[in-house]
Amino acid sequence: MKMEHTPGEIRTLQDSGEIGREAAQEFCHLAGEAVQARGVFTVALSGGSTPKKLYSLLADEDEPYRNMVPWKNIKVFWGDERCVPPDHPESNYRMAHDALLSKVPVEKTSVFRMEGEHPLPRKAAGTYEGLLRRVFRLGAEEVPRFDLIFLGLGSDGHTASLFPGSEVIFNRKDLVAATLVEKFGSYRLTMTPLVLCGAAKVIFLVSGRDKGDAVQSVLQGDYQPGRFPAQVVHPLQGKLLWLIDRSAARLLI
Ligand code: 6PG
Repeated sequence: MKMEHTPGEIRTLQDSGEIGREAAQEFCHLAGEAVQARGVFTVALSGGSTPKKLYSLLADEDEPYRNMVPWKNIKVFWGDERCVPPDHPESNYRMAHDALLSKVPVEKTSVFRMEGEHPLPRKAAGTYEGLLRRVFRLGAEEVPRFDLIFLGLGSDGHTASLFPGSEVIFNRKDLVAATLVEKFGSYRLTMTPLVLCGAAKVIFLVSGRDKGDAVQSVLQGDYQPGRFPAQVVHPLQGKLLWLIDRSAARLLI
């Protein structure tokens, strides 16, 4: 079956450093636009390693981006989190805190991390969903509209913590879910497709030769989100941008 949705805009860049720069420019532009229009910029950060360069560039006082960002008007969330404490080496919160949030004047009360340390993942997911509803002032059936969501792509086609074969890929009830990732034998917390598809803009950051097959399958293969969960991300009333380096894009036709 052919793709049900267009894959959005694809920009092929030289390497992970150029992905970081392009993403930093997008971040600054979108933050400025959102704050000028509504006084606030809501962003959900991605975990993994690819975004580290972006976060470091945004924090770097010798780079142009830091001073372009209205940090006091930004609300920071996460698209997913490993079920570990916030100071754990695998914590997505810790990675973003160390690379970015500890170095910029974002309000601590505007940083909303998922409680990966909670002994009951499902309860932590419910708590984060309640937080989204409160902060975005949502009605019962409403979905938050993030100004920007950053996502990565795994070599198996996963994104956030939507892994192949997981029922959370087709969850259209919750905003946040706890999911057991079989391959790791551990739980994760993740925003569901409802939230990912409700964003004004989603930017995928994809780098590395090992992502080549997944990139080709997700962007040019048949629509099989159960096998390639990243395919489920298509902003219904928003924009989708793929920032991919040459090695990850090498199989694209
Ligand atoms: C995570 C991310 C995950 C990540 C991809 C790509 O918690 O790890 O949410 O979806 O974005 O696995 O990771 P890399 O950027 O390290 O390749």
